[in-house]
Amino acid sequence: MSALEVRAMMPADLEAVAALARRADPFGWSLRNFQDALAAGYIMTVIEAEARIVGYFALMVVVDEAELLEIAVDPDFQGRGCGKTLLKAAVAAARAQACRCVHLEVRVSNERARKMYVSAGFCETGLRKNYYPTQNGREHAVLMRLDF
Ligand SMILES: CC(C)(COP(=O)(O)OP(=O)(O)OC[C@H]1O[C@@H](n2cnc3c(N)ncnc32)[C@H](O)[C@@H]1OP(=O)(O)O)[C@@H](O)C(=O)NCCC(=O)NCCS
Repeated sequence: MSALEVRAMMPADLEAVAALARRADPFGWSLRNFQDALAAGYIMTVIEAEARIVGYFALMVVVDEAELLEIAVDPDFQGRGCGKTLLKAAVAAARAQACRCVHLEVRVSNERARKMYVSAGFCETGLRKNYYPTQNGREHAVLMRLDF
């Protein structure tokens, strides 16, 4: 794979990012969600490989805490380090904003993402019951946090 480039998300990226979100996560953000988040001033970042966008994250900073709202990698590029690179960039962005922690929510069933967060130093801090919709019901969210 060619070199990975991490850069700020631009309005012109939004169609491609929303299309990627549809492929990566059936319950991921819509184009409108991305437009609103960019307009709200969230930290929005993409990762490029082979001259196209292959992943993104959205990070919201409130006072001295950051929340990782979205992170995803194109299914064709998963398992090659893009997720880890994005997560590292999100943590660095939170630190640069003088945050004291990053927190997030993840589906109980999302073992791949949970493993990635644990290897980046995140700890589980709680459970939000029946938080996420599934194809046939609801599932719990695991709350995770990384303190600086
Ligand atoms: C979670 C996600 C972002 C990871 O991206 P990725 O590019 O595949 O991840 P990486 O290749 O950087 O791997 C990061 C870590 O994830 C875990 N991981 C990656 N592939 C895995 C697999 N096949 N099985 C289990 N764990 C895996 C590992 O812990 C890995 O770290 P390691 O290489 O040190 O073992 C990606 O799978 C994705 O977009 N999933 C759909 C959207 C989603 O679930 N987002 C998170 C919502 S909270």
